[in-house]
Amino acid sequence: MSAVNNSKRVREVVTTTPGVPATDGDGVRMTRIIGSQELNMLDPFLLLDAFESDQPQDYIGGFPSHPHRGFETVTYLLAGRMRHKDNAGNEGVIEPGGVQWMTAGKGIVHSEMPEQENGLLMGFQLWVNLPARAKMSEPGYQEYPPSETPLERHDNGTEIRVIAGTTSAGTRGVVSNEYVRPTYLDVTLPAGQVFEQPVDVADNTFIFVIDGELEIGDRSTALARRILGILSEGDHVIVKTVQGARFLLVSALPLKEPVARGGPFVMNTQQEIMQAFDDYRHNRF
Ligand code: FE2
Repeated sequence: MSAVNNSKRVREVVTTTPGVPATDGDGVRMTRIIGSQELNMLDPFLLLDAFESDQPQDYIGGFPSHPHRGFETVTYLLAGRMRHKDNAGNEGVIEPGGVQWMTAGKGIVHSEMPEQENGLLMGFQLWVNLPARAKMSEPGYQEYPPSETPLERHDNGTEIRVIAGTTSAGTRGVVSNEYVRPTYLDVTLPAGQVFEQPVDVADNTFIFVIDGELEIGDRSTALARRILGILSEGDHVIVKTVQGARFLLVSALPLKEPVARGGPFVMNTQQEIMQAFDDYRHNRF
């Protein structure tokens, strides 16, 4: 006879980072939160960039034509609009509350340009790794405007934009990914409220505070505005706020495979990276 343990394993903050200032694309200024010298990766998350500026010179150059291979890019905006175009003729505009989850697979060449000449542009790009068996799969998009991205509203004022995963109330995100079964939530939590989310015990999980300040876990560790907190192992995330806060909760199963990086290509071996550069040079994307 085995004992049944129904107690929750609440995740606590183990590491925090504010990221590092970075420039990418044609002079776009951003904060690189994952994928920097400070925090190389959090398997399967290879990169997290946060961009926020109301100064056109910080973003107007955008991200002209560039390739990707071997992973997925997730673009989520809080303000402003971005237009993307790729070499297969796909084109669209990403708006706040909408999401573009792009599977680069064996290769895509695209541009991501601001669809505005002034005003605030604010958002995130997350890179999610693909397992070896899917790195050379056909490219694809899961792209949804704000009207098709579920927004769960609670009586206490809590709002949860569900990009991927399922909330404790049962709202399912629009994006599916069976490789790492990601959760990607944008949570607005009013003053004095508590948020709770079950996650797979084996997931790697982070929280990024967009606004306000959070208290995380049973230890109520403070997590300040614009700070990323990596959470310990556990099956529940519990978050409180005194003054009110908005944050991203992102979680997924690690792939635990070798990672070889070469700029816009992420494969398993250095040889595959060399092959990617060669294929790109010879227009085989
Ligand atoms: Fe890109």
